[in-house]
Formats: sequence, structure tokens, C-alpha cells
Amino acid sequence: MSRPIRVLFVCLGNICRSPLGEGILREMVKSHGLHGRIEVDSAGTGAYHVGEKPNKHSIAVAQSQGIDITGQRARQLTQDDFNTFNYILAMDRQNLRDIHHVMDGSEGAHIELLLAYHPNKAISPDVPDPYYGGKDGFVDVYNLIYEACAAFLDELDHEAGG
Ligand code: 4NP
Repeated sequence: MSRPIRVLFVCLGNICRSPLGEGILREMVKSHGLHGRIEVDSAGTGAYHVGEKPNKHSIAVAQSQGIDITGQRARQLTQDDFNTFNYILAMDRQNLRDIHHVMDGSEGAHIELLLAYHPNKAISPDVPDPYYGGKDGFVDVYNLIYEACAAFLDELDHEAGG
């Protein structure tokens, strides 16, 4: 069996948006019977929240959809990630710029905006940062990430031989 395709979601703090990406895609991988074929992780460009659990609103919105992200802990993006992940999916354009700054040029990963996969090409390319807003912002963020992940997985499914 070929090596799993590895996907890394990246935001700033790794406590609001990218933990949702990780939880949502991992759940989709499981429900599509792709367990072991696609591996998922997340990281932040910043180190502010390293070691912390996801934000309580991210935990709650995921839980409301039957997804448990409470076991995740924030970590910072590393140089190694560029060689060990096939896809690095940024939540917004600032994250994408920061990712390119960290990279030393030896990377093998596809580095893209997550919303490049969103079926509605008219929306903003950025998953908005919900950190300073209320919990409704997290519902919007969840839905955006969910829709983009579904489209992304469709593409990966072919690549994974599905
Ligand atoms: P995230 O949200 O990047 O989606 O995890 C944020 C978390 C923390 C901060 C900003 C955004 N912060 O400034 O600490």
C-alpha cells in the first residue's frame, strides 16, 4: 500500500480555525473509508498558544456536529513540516505569506489557500479570524471550512486511488 497523503492545516494560533480543519477533514476521511490513506494535522504560524487546547467556541461548534477536537494541542509550524506533508493549507492570505517566510526552499509540499478549493469562487479567499468575535463567527468559519474540505477531499480521493 502506498504512503498516506499527509495534509496540514495552518492558521495563526492553531487554536481556532486550523483545529477545525483538522477535525473536520479527519472525520470526513473516516466516513469515506479513507482511514490510513490520508493523515491530517494542524499547526500555527505563531507560537502564542503552543500546548493549548482549541478555543472553547471551536470545541463547541465541532461538538455540535459530532466532532471531538478536545484532544488537539496547539503547535507551531516547523521546517520539517514542508518535507513531511504533501499539502499545507492556509486559512488566510497572511498565513500563506507567513508560511512562505518560514520555508527555507527545500520543501516538497503543495502550499495553498484552503478556500481555493471552496466551490463558490466568488467568496473571499480568507477564512476570517474569529478570535476576537463572538461564537456566531465560529459557526460561519466551521461552515466555510467544511465546504472547502468536502471539495478538497473529492480531489484527494482520486489521488488516493478512491
Ligand atoms: P487562529 O485564531 O489563528 O484561527 O487560531 C487566532 C488565535 C489567536 C490569536 C489570533 C488568532 N492571537 O492573536 O493570539
